[in-house]
Amino acid sequence: MEINVLKDYSDLSVTVADIVEAQLKEQPLSKLILPTGSTPLGLYDELVKRELDWSHAITFNLDEYLMNPDHPYSYHSYMRKNLFDRTNIYPDHCHFPFRPAIPFEDKMYTYNGIDLCILGIGSNGHIAFNEPGSSFKSRTRVVDLSLQTIQDNSRFFDSVEDVPKQAITMGLGTIMESKKIILMANGTNKLTILNVAMNGEITETVPASILQNHNNVEVYYCD
Ligand code: PGA
Repeated sequence: MEINVLKDYSDLSVTVADIVEAQLKEQPLSKLILPTGSTPLGLYDELVKRELDWSHAITFNLDEYLMNPDHPYSYHSYMRKNLFDRTNIYPDHCHFPFRPAIPFEDKMYTYNGIDLCILGIGSNGHIAFNEPGSSFKSRTRVVDLSLQTIQDNSRFFDSVEDVPKQAITMGLGTIMESKKIILMANGTNKLTILNVAMNGEITETVPASILQNHNNVEVYYCD
């Protein structure tokens, strides 16, 4: 699969913002899947700067820790701070995986399913919190985080002990039903896993490799 290499982080953020903007303009009632983490911060800043109309958009986040959603380090808080509170999106239109998972997934697939899914990739090849070994058929569910992910994400917390050990995540099967998928990756530490995932064997050991089976995926990388 082709990896589009962009010149810097700003170029990455602008390029993916162009795709989201085009989607929202072409189809105001778009259903989007959104990521958290460091990589999309520039994308969210860029989208806010463009003052787009989000009033018809419906969003679903990829995952959330099993923790109080009002905790300052939850993904609910991250999304409010970095995107939702800075746009005219309706809070009722912003969804996070919840239990039981079946009504959550039903909500995603009403009105024709997901139009655009934006993903990051973990240093172990995870997408959302689908850690290595996750079934390609997996649906939204509670998962244990891998030690690698706990270590990687400890930079967002006061200490590694504070990182939740479990999360609720969309499954790989869930994500693959999106009509279009954009994978964003930033940093030389992601390059090896990105290459393995996009051009190596398609295997549950590298969850992101499932994207090779999707017919509408674009991959954007900058170091
Ligand atoms: P990052 O996380 O953007 O913080 O590197 C990506 C991910 O783990 O999916």
